[in-house]
Parts: sequence; structure tokens; C-alpha cells
Amino acid sequence: MKMPEKIQQQATQLRESLNKHNYYYYVLDDPRIPDSEYDHLMRELQALEAQYPQLITPDSPTQRVGAAPLSAFAEVVHSIPMLSLGNAFENKEVHDFDKRVQKGLGVHKIEYVAETKLDGLAVSIRYENGILVKGATRGDGNRGEDVTLNVKTIKVIPLRLQGDDYPPILEVRGEVFMPKADFKKYNQRQIAKGEKTLANPRNAAAGSLRQLKSRVTARRPLTFFTYGIGVVEGAELPNRHSDILQRLQKWGFPISDETQIVNGVQGCLDYYQNIQAQRDALPFDIDGVVYKVNRIEQQQSLGFVSRAPRWAIAHKFPAEEALTQVLDIDIQVGRTGALTPVARLAPVNVGGVTVTNATLHNQDEIKRKDIRIGDTVIVRRAGDVIPEVVRLVPEKRPQNTQAYLLPDKCPDCGSEVTRIKDEAVLRCTGGLFCPAQRKQALQHFASRRAMDIDGLGEKLIEQLIDNELVKNIADIYSISHEQWAGLERMGKKSAENMIKALEKSKSTTLAKFLYALGIREVGETTASILAQHFGNIDKLIQATKADLQKIPDIGPVAAQQIVAFFQQTHNREIIQHLQTVGVHWAAQSEPQTTDSLTGQTFVLTGTLSTMTRTQAKSRLQNLGAKVSGSVSKKTHCVVAGEKAGSKLKKAQDLGVKIIDEAGLRALLGD
Ligand code: IVH
Repeated sequence: MKMPEKIQQQATQLRESLNKHNYYYYVLDDPRIPDSEYDHLMRELQALEAQYPQLITPDSPTQRVGAAPLSAFAEVVHSIPMLSLGNAFENKEVHDFDKRVQKGLGVHKIEYVAETKLDGLAVSIRYENGILVKGATRGDGNRGEDVTLNVKTIKVIPLRLQGDDYPPILEVRGEVFMPKADFKKYNQRQIAKGEKTLANPRNAAAGSLRQLKSRVTARRPLTFFTYGIGVVEGAELPNRHSDILQRLQKWGFPISDETQIVNGVQGCLDYYQNIQAQRDALPFDIDGVVYKVNRIEQQQSLGFVSRAPRWAIAHKFPAEEALTQVLDIDIQVGRTGALTPVARLAPVNVGGVTVTNATLHNQDEIKRKDIRIGDTVIVRRAGDVIPEVVRLVPEKRPQNTQAYLLPDKCPDCGSEVTRIKDEAVLRCTGGLFCPAQRKQALQHFASRRAMDIDGLGEKLIEQLIDNELVKNIADIYSISHEQWAGLERMGKKSAENMIKALEKSKSTTLAKFLYALGIREVGETTASILAQHFGNIDKLIQATKADLQKIPDIGPVAAQQIVAFFQQTHNREIIQHLQTVGVHWAAQSEPQTTDSLTGQTFVLTGTLSTMTRTQAKSRLQNLGAKVSGSVSKKTHCVVAGEKAGSKLKKAQDLGVKIIDEAGLRALLGD
């Protein structure tokens, strides 16, 4: 139907008015019109849009109610990774953090921003020219899930930014959560309807946001606080975190009222005390507070370790505790052969979660705490961590109990158990012969982010180990078609698919291969740093502890584990064996051992397609370069990725050398 111009104007006005009142109501908590008036405006807009569907815009408030269900979430790559935070539990750890910051910056008094640590789900929301275009979960930090439709149902999140001074590209990061009162009300209603309740506000937020049906999300009382930004292009933001938050608030985002600028470590600790005293009265669940260095250039100069910034730390509250009984003690053998005693408990609710197992850590801990089967104990859980037995309640001990001793043989393979010097844990000596270790080693090896062997799941792996088809991880490539087809729930066709998947997995990258080996302390990030640094596996095998410790981000513990791993003959044999059966990766560039960029300052801007900015930064630093966040006359070179914005312009104005991604790769020797 042809649309008169007047109608168009009317729709625009209605949209603007509704968005504005939405903000007054949900963000400022200060409604300016009665609800009935708001509903009236909404119905008017809905009626117009029904008549003229071409009027519907992505930022129309009618679009919040949810769209058709999805069959799965698409993947979103975070071009600036969503990091996690290091934790402090004791004041001393906060003092240590502050000392590290002071030392790193060479400054004594540090200005921090103190915030509450909300217990919900982290999301990144992208705006292009002021319009919400994407909402994504954190996922593993590099890749999350596209939850745009669900994010749009959250009323406090603007569909269109306010004002006109926002950057053309802006990613806003923050926490989606369910306020305590709404959580309670929701569960009461569910109980009244005889339906399932949600375990705790955190699970409620996560479960609600990860719904394929956005109509379901729309009915959940979710809300949001912003605490940071991701990609920003086309405009400079203020140079203090606190000012960035103010700016975000001006553009329409809620920030927590509890956020404060504090001075030095004492300011942080006072804030902690203050918030802890108010914790129960706060309308939302928090599991601690977060301290962030306020000045952005100080943040940039401190940088990151692995997955967490050096300029921020979470100071957690003491965990929640409950009383229960130890019914039995079991031993779990881990992927690395560590024997962990686990208390089987009479089920108990700890902070909204039913706990039936808790770790007892190791023999020394059992002895120190004097825990026996039949004892009454206090268990504790903190956030996502595994529940643990804190202490015995001695007056409740039954008669005739005996001290508990860990077995001297592995419960899974019968091999001797040993205790490595200076380690508290006992380890099974069966190595990759121990089924417990083999199963888990193989599971890790086959996992998506390691060798990515499609279809090789837990059930199949169990059969392979139980039928002794795999003694070490390399054997997986030598299983015949008949052997595959002979396994339970496998036919000819699935055997064929398995063999295809195995063939496909042989072509990998050095980083994935290193990660797949399951070396202790070598997660994905470290594996990728090692691959980049050494370029080939032989050089890594020969590296000494000192060589490894010279690499930024590799500490003494990881260095020791890496050396210990490659010292084992059987591990080197397995690597050899894997290469013999055809596992290969593209040759990396020759490792860069020179300091060819010493004394030069680089600035990265825009999006890179073949590496993350963190990777680019770390590789430039490996060559001796300094990587800074802002362009000045002293900058030697600006690397401009896709959609580079104001920094590129500034470099052009100042006549600073500019290279693109290909230039960067050439410089890095790719
Ligand atoms: S800042 C680079 N601030 O905690 C730092 N995180 O352990 C990135 N969280 O994934 C996070 N409240 O989900 C930050 N005020 C706050 C936070 C906060 C809660 C969560 C967030 C993040 C996790 C990190």
C-alpha cells in the first residue's frame, strides 16, 4: 500500500516518543507519563505498522516482543576478545594487585574505578550508526552466540542510541541479569502454575538469554548494566573509564549506581567493605566487586596476561556455606593422572544450588581438616567453582570412624601411585596407559578446539578404551574400518564418516596440535603463543625453561610443565607417531628471534581478519616493538585493519607511516 508522508512522520514521532519514555521508565526509573498513556502510544504504532509493514524499523519499540524461533544460534567472532578477570579473595591479594599496577606504571597513587561484580551473563552489543545490530554472548571470549533477538527484548537496552555524538561503530559490553525481586516473583508464579522454577538469578539470566524462542526471553524480567566497551570506530572516547561510563549513560545505557572513583588500594578496600555491608539490600545479586585502573592509557600500558587484564581485578566475597554429611569418599583420576578425593554428600542447598559432591583436594587437606566418612562438614561454593569441604564440625562426629587414607594403587588401572616432590597431589604412574587418563586425554585431543574430530564423542571414546583399541592417542588413526563398524551403535556408514573425519582432522595448525596434546598449563592461548614463537615443534621440544620464560605471557610454572612434558620419551614418541600417520600443519613463518622492531611504537586500529588484535600486539611485542593505544607524532607506524576510523585519520594528518594487514603480515614474516 502506498504510504502518505504524513503517516511516515507520525510513525517516526511515535517511535521517538516511545523510545524516550522507555528510557525514562526503565533506565532512569522516572516515568513521565502514566502506563496507560504508554500503552496507548504503543498500540497506535502497532496499528500503523500493521497497515504499512514497510514502516517497521529495527529500532522500533514494537520489535522488542520477540521474533520467530531460531533453530540454533549463529556464531559471533569478537574481534576484541571478551576477557575474564583475575580473582582476589583476601585483602593481601588486592594489595599485591595494586603493587603490580604501581610497579608496572611506575606511579604511586593509582586512581581506580570500583564497581559491583554482577552475577549474570556477559554480552557485547554492537551499534552501527546508532542502531542496535548485534547482541552476542561472551562464549569462550573469542567466539560467542548471536543472541540479537533476545537482547532486543531487554527493555533497558536502547535499540537506538540517544544524542548524536556516538561513534558510528560502538560495541557496548556489560552484564545481563535478573533482579532478585523479579527472580523471586517469577519463581512464585511458576510454583503457582505447577511449572519448573529457575535455580538462581544467575542461571535464570543465562537460561533466559540463551532461548531459541525470543518470545520466551521477552517474558523474562531481564535487565542490563554496562561496564565497558569493545570495538569503537570513527570517534575518540574519553580517556578515563569513569568518563566512558558517563558517556554510555548519556547514549542511553544503564550503569550501576554503585560505581565509584576511588583512590589507591585503601579506597578499593573501603569500597569493598561498604558494598559488602549493603549486599543483601542491593536489588541484584553480586559475587564481589571489581577494581579497574581508571586512566585508559594506563590500562593500555599495563596490557593483559593470557585471558585477563593486568589493570583490573575482581575482589570476591566469601563464598556461601552450608552444613551436610559425608556419605562416602571417592577417588577421581584426572586427565593428568592426579588422584582427587571427592566427598559424596547428603544433598544440600548452597546458595540456590543443590550440592552432592565436594572436592577434598588431596591427602594433606583431608589430614589437615581431619575429614572422615560419616562426618558432618561445612561445604562452600563460590560462583562457578567446584564446591569444597571447608571444615569439620567435630562435635557431630559419630563413634568408631577412621582416618581416611588415599589408596596406594590407582583405582582405575591398578598402577602405583606416586607423589611428585613438592606437590600435594598423588598421581597415577600409568600415564597414557591408565584408562582414566587415556579417556580424558583422547576426549581432549578430539575436542572441537583441539583436533576437531567430528563425531568422536564420549561414548565412542569409552568403547575404544574399554575394547583396548587405543592405548595412546596416536592409535586413533590406525583403527580399521571393520573395527569402527564393530563398535556399538556404529554401522558401515558411520564408520566411513569417522574415517573421513579422522582424515580431515590430520590437517591442523601447530597451535591446535599443541593444545590437543593436553600439556598441563597449556591452554589455547598459551598453545597459540608457543606456535607463533617457535614456528615449528622441534624447536619447541628443544627449548629450555629459560628459553620459554623469555616469552611474554609464559610464567615459570607453565615453562616447567612444558619442559617436563617434552622430556618424557613416550610423549615425544607419540608426537612422532602422529606425524608418521599424517598429522600435519601448514609451516609457520620462521620464528622471529631478532629484535627488529626495538624502539618502535605501533598503533593498531580497525579489525584484522587473520588474527586478533591481542595476537598482533603480542607478535609485535615479540619483535621488540611497543604497542600503544593512541597515535601521536612519536608513533612509528599505524596498522590499519578493516573499517579503521579516527586513529587512521590522525595518522594521515600527522604523516605517520600506515600499513594494512598484508603489510603487517609481511613485517611479521608470515
Ligand atoms: S569487566 C576486561 N566489570 O565478570 C574486563 N566484568 O570475571 C572484562 N562481570 O565476564 C570484564 N560485573 O561477566 C567487568 N563490573 C564488571 C563486572 C564484570 C560482572 C563479569 C563479566 C565477566 C566476568 C569476568
